Amino acid sequence: MRAPGAAAPRRDTALFVDRVTKIFADPSASPVTAVDDVTLEVQAGEFVCLLGPSGCGKTTLLRIIAGLETPTAGEVFVGGVRVTDLPPNARDTAMVFQSYALFPHLDVFENVAFGLRVRRVTEPEIAKRVAAALHLVGLTGLERRSPDQLSGGQQQRVALARALVTQPRVLLLDEPLSNLDAKLREQMRVELRRIQRQLGITAIYVTHDQVEAMTLADRIVVLDRGRIQQVAPPAELYARPANSFVAEFVGKVNLLEGRVIEATEDGYRIALDGLEATVAVPSPDREPLAPGARVRVVVRPETVHLGRDGTYRGVVRSAIYLGSQVEYEVAVARPRCRRLAEASLKKGSSPRANRSG
Ligand SMILES: Nc1ncnc2c1ncn2[C@@H]1O[C@H](COP(=O)(O)OP(=O)(O)OP(=O)(O)O)[C@@H](O)[C@H]1O
Ligand SMILES: [Mg+2]
Repeated sequence: MRAPGAAAPRRDTALFVDRVTKIFADPSASPVTAVDDVTLEVQAGEFVCLLGPSGCGKTTLLRIIAGLETPTAGEVFVGGVRVTDLPPNARDTAMVFQSYALFPHLDVFENVAFGLRVRRVTEPEIAKRVAAALHLVGLTGLERRSPDQLSGGQQQRVALARALVTQPRVLLLDEPLSNLDAKLREQMRVELRRIQRQLGITAIYVTHDQVEAMTLADRIVVLDRGRIQQVAPPAELYARPANSFVAEFVGKVNLLEGRVIEATEDGYRIALDGLEATVAVPSPDREPLAPGARVRVVVRPETVHLGRDGTYRGVVRSAIYLGSQVEYEVAVARPRCRRLAEASLKKGSSPRANRSG
């Protein structure tokens, strides 16, 4: 649902998903609502990640945008054009799949040329555009190889070149790097972002990996059970999660249950399981909390500092060495253990309060 008072969405953005719902009928069980009333506006040139756990509806939403799935309700606009009823090849989009989905009987050149041939582009133009696309992804010279003569990373680049060669307005990517090893994945992420910026193309990128979303996205859309939980730039999502689900899904967190004691000048004094904390609320964008209100307080591990003369007393239960950090589990006062980490670099920033249900 649109928040009351929010600006009316514009249909002339690069992509506009208007109240899209997808319900899958299942003859042997109750129907599955894979996408639940999703509204999303994406500006030209933006890189947006759809982030969420397995089964939350990421692929279904992407397939609806691509035209590979029909929504049960709602509309999709690409570049201001209503495309809800158009087939995939009539939309200004292109999709890159996790499995690459290359044509095994076609060589690299023909794989990339495929979309151009379908669109009846002339032969000299095809040669020019395929060469440019292969250059962009660093595969010049491999035109005559077949897919089974390529590494996983090279196959992924062919898939990317094949999507880019038709110069779509919106590039759709479904976990495109998940079959690559960690090192190559990181390298491809950087390259993907470079290519996307260079072309100024709009990208919608599906991932269940929060680190990947954080490093790639201008904005992240967090989904849970088909519903949007929050849409925000990475730093805002991390610092100001809209609810407990987002807080726990994005980064490590200590989620403490508490009750408001009283309002202070810049926040609240809160009682937490035998502890007491003053929590700053930087921009109170909601109605004030009354004394006694139940809240959850989000404490990011790197905002906790361990020392001999701190405010709270605790016992270190475990210490895990992680290279640049040590992760400590500390039992503080009574009665529960919380996992805390001492980062070697980051300091500062205060805990934030979240209203609980
Ligand atoms: N064709 C289908 N028929 C019935 N149910 C489906 C179909 N496709 C997806 N679903 C269901 O819809 C829900 C969302 O699936 P979807 O593939 O969009 O999730 P996802 O977020 O991409 O998950 P993953 O991270 O595992 O890829 C799941 O419960 C799934 O079982
Ligand atoms: Mg998926």
